[in-house]
Amino acid sequence: MIYELRVRSFTGTRERSGDFRGLTRRLEYLKRLGADCLWLIPIHPSPLEDDGYDVADYCAVHPDYGTLEDFKAFLAEAHRLGLKVLMDLVLNHTSERHAWFEESRSSKEDPKRDWYVWRKDNTGYSGIGVIFRNKESDNWEWDPRTGEYYWHRFYKTQPDLNFENPEVVEATLDVADFWLGLGVDGFRLDAIHCLYEKEGTSCEHLPETHAYLKKLRRFVDGRHEGKVLLAETVGSTDKIRPYFSGGDECHMAFHFPLAAYLFYGLATEDAGAVRRCFEGFDPLPEDCAWGFMLRNHDDLAIKFLTEEERSVMKRAYAPKPGMVLNDGIRRRLSPLLGDDPSDVRLAHALILSLPGSPVLYYGDEIGMGEDLSLPDRFGLRTPMDWDEAERQERDPASLLSWLRKALSIRKAHPALVRGECRFLDPGNPKVLAFERSLGGRKILAFFNLGRSTERAGTGMTERVSVGDLWTGETRGLDPRVPLPPRSFSWFELPG
Ligand code: BGC
Repeated sequence: MIYELRVRSFTGTRERSGDFRGLTRRLEYLKRLGADCLWLIPIHPSPLEDDGYDVADYCAVHPDYGTLEDFKAFLAEAHRLGLKVLMDLVLNHTSERHAWFEESRSSKEDPKRDWYVWRKDNTGYSGIGVIFRNKESDNWEWDPRTGEYYWHRFYKTQPDLNFENPEVVEATLDVADFWLGLGVDGFRLDAIHCLYEKEGTSCEHLPETHAYLKKLRRFVDGRHEGKVLLAETVGSTDKIRPYFSGGDECHMAFHFPLAAYLFYGLATEDAGAVRRCFEGFDPLPEDCAWGFMLRNHDDLAIKFLTEEERSVMKRAYAPKPGMVLNDGIRRRLSPLLGDDPSDVRLAHALILSLPGSPVLYYGDEIGMGEDLSLPDRFGLRTPMDWDEAERQERDPASLLSWLRKALSIRKAHPALVRGECRFLDPGNPKVLAFERSLGGRKILAFFNLGRSTERAGTGMTERVSVGDLWTGETRGLDPRVPLPPRSFSWFELPG
């Protein structure tokens, strides 16, 4: 399991930022929970116009979080506990306060002028949508100093780097090398589909971006062993799948449609919504995996759903004004699901069983709430509630204790982690059923997305004896299994 966290919130309060020393002291908690890997959202010096996704210096740590030495001590302790660490690598843009941009905007003759995308007018790449429409109305920004416009896909304080310039490509490889050299285990590649621009295209997912990723992968593999590249590209599966290419680009990519369709399936009691996420796509290359996250630090992406599906989602999950932000729904997991323990557990269980790596957003293991009075996405990034985490660690009936158990069962059954996945037809549209198999071990998983008890066909004609992974007991399984509302079951079939 990959645990996503924001250093500022993890051991901080509303008044005081968390830091690497605090995080280091909390690593045991993450280990006890069952995390294998941490993903840190950007930790670099930044004016924080986009919570650190506006990097002002790639090779340093934001002073609020400590020093590079503190980071190294944190990394060493994480590794000692067997936890890997992924960092966010924000390549598409820098902060306008990055020295590269300050030089670039200083004059048209500056050697770094061409490190960013400058134009005399703002007519280029027309028709490219504005992502952060809550704050921006154009992807071009006028810069009075030199009388030209620069391109930005995100906030105007985040000018896009010009990847057509080979010096920029080299500089980004140097950044990767710096952190991997310190022992970081890999990167989440932020907004990776936006790297290149080309007139007459959507300026997303361009062949040049894939060529860059192949280059980055060769560079990383050539200089470091066993590192991971994880693509963040929001969109439909057909757009995301190519980031694995033939096993020579990213090792992992977030499966954004899964989260959206999982919630859609819960709202409509339609298990097919989840199953369809996996139909019609080539299996992933060896040593590649999907990253499944229910929620993260951004709004829940629903842009790639049909208009009708989007209205179902908004009706179900964004009933109050302010819950929709740009193209997404800004809610945390537990409140999104009405703080219903069965729904929350079912959603977690699904991403723990489907073929991929589960990604957990800090606080979702204790059902943390949101504060929608905060602007933009900050309502989802409030300080970790340690009192609640400690209370739940002591309570065997808590969500945290449940999740710890679920994660330990998953770890104890490699078929659930790496097994081949075969979807079954349970003869009931509200039930998702699949089999995970590895080395002769077979696990049968059922999920009832219905709000009533449902029966699911096992595909077998007679009663068989199975191991119930949750209770550890052996029991007889009827050819039609009864499943309580919003529940799941994991059974090990006899070998
Ligand atoms: C990150 C956002 C960020 C944006 C620009 C996204 O994909 O997850 O939080 O605002 O990239 O860097």
